[in-house]
Amino acid sequence: MSGARPPGDGTFLTFEGIEGSGKSTQIRLLARRLEAAGIAALVTREPGGTALGERLRAALLEPGAAAPSPLVELLLYTADRAQHLAEVVEPALAAGRVVLCDRYLDATLAYQGAARGLGLEAVERLHRDPPLDRRPLRTVLLDADPREGLARARERNRRLGTERSEGRFEEEGLAFHESVRRAYLALAAADPKRFRVVDGSGTEEDIEARVRLALADLFPFLAVPRP
Ligand code: TMP
Repeated sequence: MSGARPPGDGTFLTFEGIEGSGKSTQIRLLARRLEAAGIAALVTREPGGTALGERLRAALLEPGAAAPSPLVELLLYTADRAQHLAEVVEPALAAGRVVLCDRYLDATLAYQGAARGLGLEAVERLHRDPPLDRRPLRTVLLDADPREGLARARERNRRLGTERSEGRFEEEGLAFHESVRRAYLALAAADPKRFRVVDGSGTEEDIEARVRLALADLFPFLAVPRP
């Protein structure tokens, strides 16, 4: 995508993937590893990451609630992002921090632009001016088979209890998630400098080793194998 601003002093890293691709676990493991090396990364997420954002998240994802139209969905995710950038991400980057964000603009391109059918241009148009023109320095795409990802996401919801389910998209069929996956892979292919596609199959440890390699040019200590 054109018009990206330079990353600034901080390091903005985003993680993407279909439901159940293991993003949140991998972000947690990475944050722990950075912390052990003396880097206190800020871990945040979209939708969410601010008080208003968490309310938008509840409205957007509550399973069974009246579904917003695709356009309203796009505008709410974008509103969440504008608040999140202003309140959380930009101040952290300005302070020189590493920010690890669980989903960002590529999720809107893949879910609303591609899978919901609004088109990538409709999403990009909303993200041309500040604060929404912020682009990540690196995006890790955890690529997973939708069958396995959905099974993992549903199992997690069962464990957490139905009231914790954030299932609007988990209720979508396989074809929807296949379309999201294809869109993510196409975005990654179009911007190989920013993206690293990481195989999301195998154990948490297997995936973590791949994530570390994907970021080792930014944080050389991640390349060192575990003791
Ligand atoms: P999560 O499962 O990673 O917490 O993400 C919540 C859901 O929000 C996930 O189903 C994907 C969806 N989503 C969008 O559809 N568009 C967006 O822009 C973002 C950030 C998330």
